[in-house]
Amino acid sequence: MKAVEIKPDIYWVGAIDWAIRDFHGYIIPNGTTYNNYLILDEMVTLFDTVKHDFSQITIENIKSLVDPAKIRNIIIDHIENDHSTSIAEIMHLAPNASLYITERGKKGLAKFYDLSRWDVKVVKTGDTLNIGKRNLLFIETPMLHWPDSMMTYVKEDKLLISQDGFGQHYASAARFDDEFLTCFSVSELEDAVEDYYANILMPFGTQIKTKIAEIQKLGLEIDMIAPDHGIIWRKDPSKVINMYLDMANGKADLRVVIIYDTMWKSTEQMTVPIMQGIKDEGVDVKVIKLRATPVSAAVKELWQARGCLIGSPTLNNSMFPTIAEFLSYLRGLRPKNRIAGAFGSYGWGGGAVKDIYEELKKMGLEIVEPGVQVIYKPSADEEQRCYEFGREFAGKVKAHHAKFE
Ligand code: FEO
Repeated sequence: MKAVEIKPDIYWVGAIDWAIRDFHGYIIPNGTTYNNYLILDEMVTLFDTVKHDFSQITIENIKSLVDPAKIRNIIIDHIENDHSTSIAEIMHLAPNASLYITERGKKGLAKFYDLSRWDVKVVKTGDTLNIGKRNLLFIETPMLHWPDSMMTYVKEDKLLISQDGFGQHYASAARFDDEFLTCFSVSELEDAVEDYYANILMPFGTQIKTKIAEIQKLGLEIDMIAPDHGIIWRKDPSKVINMYLDMANGKADLRVVIIYDTMWKSTEQMTVPIMQGIKDEGVDVKVIKLRATPVSAAVKELWQARGCLIGSPTLNNSMFPTIAEFLSYLRGLRPKNRIAGAFGSYGWGGGAVKDIYEELKKMGLEIVEPGVQVIYKPSADEEQRCYEFGREFAGKVKAHHAKFE
């Protein structure tokens, strides 16, 4: 896609990755974009680069606007590979450019490149850079979501270039929120934001709240947010800020997601009366078979719901491997403000449900126990127990949800 002017003399010069589905293990069914931005001011300034596979696309986009040799500043807001691996090619074409980066960004980038050949300037929160008619303000955002991360505010344009923050993995020809909404729905856009937050930013809710408060305290007027992935927030940048604050404060839907796997369909059979019990208690419910669903998609569903039940058969005295993988991924994301329980089936010794509860407790989630377990296959009485467990769990979910209303 050719360069797109997002503000007078400020251009998106990135690339659209329509084909990617596996983003370092995070499954993204809609692809993504690698956004970077170019300001044509007295000092031509580039913000971030793109994933190496797309370097020629961004270089062609830059060349369509200016000779890359005229680039004087390159702002490295984030060093993760999808934003920094074209840097050597760009620097080859822009040998007079200075790199602006955080201290931790410089240390990290030095593991990938020999920085001694480049003019690298370390910046911190509050530092500014005049590039002609415009002034840039740097704002460090450590652990949002890497230690090196920062955002850059373009004062005269009220533009926040926000690296991964406020992004979405969604490849589309739309570059702006209002364009996206002419083709897709608000709920699809919100779902993309929540998916990204759940899989990338879930552990960092406290830092998100602190950083948004800090930006608000600085009194920065923001009428556009330009992230490194997905659409640019032009029509309503406050929407995504409020979504982030809501999620950081524990917002979820009054719903239970049942995430299970099964060997000979006994655990699967248990999900039906459990689901019915939840529904009869007046709580929305969704059922997900893990072996048929990417872990990252299941995490998004968990994040959107107030309650989660994990179901697993016992295999070799422990939980099923797909469930173990899911819980390992989830634990790293440090979920909060959710209530959880477990159920499952076994043949002789058992172990899956006990293991799941141990994992849920390590995460510090509110727990409903004991879970329900059956030997071999649920009988009619055991199905009734499953139903009652579903009702009981849904009641606890409603009580937990009320704390956030
Ligand atoms: Fe889009 Fe943290 O990289």
